[in-house]
Amino acid sequence: MEDVAENRKQFIDNLAHEMKTPLTSILGFADLLQIKKDISEEGRIEYAGIIKEEAARMRTLSGKLMELITVGEANIEWKSEDMKALFEEIGTSLKVVAQKQRMQFVCEAESGQLVVDKELFKSLIYNLVDNAIKASNEGGKIQVSGYFIKEEFVITVEDNGIGIPKEELEKITQAFYMVDKARSRKKGGAGLGLALCAEIVEIHRGSMRFESEVNQGTRVIIRMRGGKENEE
Ligand SMILES: Nc1ncnc2c1ncn2[C@@H]1O[C@H](COP(=O)(O)OP(=O)(O)O)[C@@H](O)[C@H]1O
Ligand SMILES: [Mg+2]
Repeated sequence: MEDVAENRKQFIDNLAHEMKTPLTSILGFADLLQIKKDISEEGRIEYAGIIKEEAARMRTLSGKLMELITVGEANIEWKSEDMKALFEEIGTSLKVVAQKQRMQFVCEAESGQLVVDKELFKSLIYNLVDNAIKASNEGGKIQVSGYFIKEEFVITVEDNGIGIPKEELEKITQAFYMVDKARSRKKGGAGLGLALCAEIVEIHRGSMRFESEVNQGTRVIIRMRGGKENEE
């Protein structure tokens, strides 16, 4: 019980901090725009740009937070889905994003049924691919694969990006944890993606682990048995 209270306090502290930082710049730069008399055209564009960027970060933060809070609540829709078709669907929407960043992207799975909540499952893959893209440079390669081993479905998401130091691996699924805060913030991150992924995997009775080599890349391996209908 004490642990839960401690985690809760930590979560709220972190959240307050994540909200305060962008709000401080938004208010600060809005003030400048209002007060400063002879503001140059460049200055105006710069200040407005910061306000927009920080506001966008808050929007991402609140969106992710809502997802994290509502995941696991009543409205989960378990349905048997063909993984090959679902991966194709996910691949089609993510391909555009990856190509915009000039990255190679492959998303494919073996055919077979798994009981999932489709929206949560998509959110899981989107978040992992988002991380892979953010960790990669132009020309990077991202591969999402799915296959069945006995009654388990295995998903791997691989990139050849910056990698994660060994000592960080066990911390990255904690809410608000970011290996390089400045880098993540610049890319619009808030450190909630993997916390959300961990919840989604758990709901699907699965496990998630990371293999990574600094400057070589990262592989996320998820094994899941699927949702409710599979329970005896
Ligand atoms: N594929 C990856 N390659 C390198 N670092 C990663 C990868 N996935 C996650 N990370 C690290 O884990 C941290 C937490 O990930 P996440 O919770 O999704 O937060 P965010 O994406 O908002 O930064 C990231 O900030 C990053 O440092
Ligand atoms: Mg993320």
